[in-house]
Amino acid sequence: MTAPDNAQLKREAAVSALDYVEDGMKLGLGTGSTADLFIELIARRILQGLRIQAVPTSERTARAARAHGIPLFDLDAVAPLDLTIDGTDEADRALDLVKGAGGALLREKIVAASSKRMVVIADASKLVQRLGRFPLPIEVVSFGHGTTASRIAGAVAALGYGKVPIVLREKNGAPVRTDTGNQIYDCHFGAIADAPALASRLSQIPGVVEHGLFIGIATTLLIAGPGGVETIERR
Ligand code: A5P
Repeated sequence: MTAPDNAQLKREAAVSALDYVEDGMKLGLGTGSTADLFIELIARRILQGLRIQAVPTSERTARAARAHGIPLFDLDAVAPLDLTIDGTDEADRALDLVKGAGGALLREKIVAASSKRMVVIADASKLVQRLGRFPLPIEVVSFGHGTTASRIAGAVAALGYGKVPIVLREKNGAPVRTDTGNQIYDCHFGAIADAPALASRLSQIPGVVEHGLFIGIATTLLIAGPGGVETIERR
């Protein structure tokens, strides 16, 4: 028997998340390839009669949800949400996350923080002992973004990290703009020694809109590996 590939594992995690959805729920829809699989699955349930009110975490997700006929609402009209289902770039067993490879970290964090529960779906490659191997995205306002990046570098150095490359995210030679019109710097830590301390320091920097460290937000991880889906609950 061959081992399931990542796409199959992502699907298995997304299928497991359906168990957390109840009729009438207000639901945050995450962003990324794993969240896309969940959107497909929940759309099928809606065709079978499930009623939900959904809030997208990005324009990409809004387009996918609309294409599947999922009813969308403004966060302000329906908050607090019952549940958000989202993917992640990294997760540890303390349920802390690095998110934002898809550039949607700001809305993802607002929506997740407005939800009673956040269930994270991922294949086993995302589960790490220590966060930071994946570059940490930091969303900054465009005005003075280079100066803000210098401040980030100073804060990171003051926390005792060595040389951390801080790279403006670009696509086709131009800075990437988020759905909210901001820019993103990717910070290559390699390993993050104290994620809560780093998160709180980054949040104090003028010009930083949000960072991709999700600390104390996720309530459940559903990690799909070759041996099945592991459920890790916040204690
Ligand atoms: C989007 O901004 C990210 O936070 C995604 O949740 C993350 O990149 C996961 O994407 P995949 O499911 O495609 O790995």
